Amino acid sequence: MQTTTLGRTNLIVSRMGMGAGDPSRLGQRTGKTESECIDILKQAFDAGVNFVDTSDTYSTEPIIGQAIQGRDRGRIVISTKKSTRRKKVTPKTIEENLHNSLRCLRTDYIDVYSLHGVVPQDYNYLVTDVYATLRKAREQGKIRFVGITEMFNEDMTHLTLRRGLEDDLWDVVMVGFNILNQTAREAVLQKAMQNNVGVQVMFALRKALSQPEHLKDFVAHLIRKGEIDPVDVDLKNPLGFLDASTVSLPDAAYRFCRDEPGVHVVLSGTGNPEHLAANLTSFDRPPLPEADVQRLVHIFRNVVSTTGQSMIEEPRA
Ligand SMILES: NC(=O)c1ccc[n+]([C@@H]2O[C@H](COP(=O)([O-])OP(=O)(O)OC[C@H]3O[C@@H](n4cnc5c(N)ncnc54)[C@H](OP(=O)(O)O)[C@@H]3O)[C@@H](O)[C@H]2O)c1
Repeated sequence: MQTTTLGRTNLIVSRMGMGAGDPSRLGQRTGKTESECIDILKQAFDAGVNFVDTSDTYSTEPIIGQAIQGRDRGRIVISTKKSTRRKKVTPKTIEENLHNSLRCLRTDYIDVYSLHGVVPQDYNYLVTDVYATLRKAREQGKIRFVGITEMFNEDMTHLTLRRGLEDDLWDVVMVGFNILNQTAREAVLQKAMQNNVGVQVMFALRKALSQPEHLKDFVAHLIRKGEIDPVDVDLKNPLGFLDASTVSLPDAAYRFCRDEPGVHVVLSGTGNPEHLAANLTSFDRPPLPEADVQRLVHIFRNVVSTTGQSMIEEPRA
């Protein structure tokens, strides 16, 4: 497993990170037992993955807490988050939440602690009223670095992270980026590189890039919306030109994200051991040929209206 330095944190991280949240929650969403969920994570750790992302709302913090027992904590990088949506977040709820995360994760520090799914309208409040609590927790040694993640399906032009990078208050950001929606390249990744901010990518696959049948539907929809030029793609097999250099659509999707300049960790969420094995192999494969990358950039250059999860992106209730 390739590793890199997570920006200014200087943490050494695997290029593939385990996403312990939606859609799979390490298998919780697909009916796996707790012990099977723990085994998925152990399988990833044994293969060289040392980065895992979770949150107070995923109910996977206790699974991670169990999976790290008996391992060298200093080599594992844990990212967890405090959700900021719907409930008003206060310094008190942050403190309580952090205490609970530490207990569930069975650790005395968190490597990257982020505000989760921050929508643009909440950003100012979180900086003025909550950020100081994160700084204090950092001074107390409970967290090592402070991060922020966007709500991609509501903020597809990355307003939150644009603000966050201008303010330069955050050591790590999590951004939505994939073959279909590449808007983060200009909006986020360039500035993150300038500021040496650590970058986690989410949404590398989601629905559109997990199966070719779904991709065809998304491409047809984006052609109808005028965001893809039909002369650029063969609708029967939109990414067929990648067949010579990739083994599957997810393989292409992960390698595309991994080698995007500015990206450090690509999160991969699964509860399926076969998918995990395949994904681990993808991260060991060489870069996609440059001509293929440029063709993907060209085909999807005007796509702004989807995250790859749904053709009608709607805010969560
Ligand atoms: N705002 C936020 O902060 C936020 C929001 C969303 C996600 N996240 C983080 O990002 C992580 C990853 O989420 P994501 O959105 O980036 O999801 P993703 O990894 O793009 O997609 C995961 C989906 O792809 C499937 N999958 C995985 N490998 C596959 C393969 N080889 N072949 C076919 N299907 C495959 C999984 O199903 P199986 O289980 O069947 O494999 C799952 O349904 C989350 O776990 C969470 O940690 C953060």
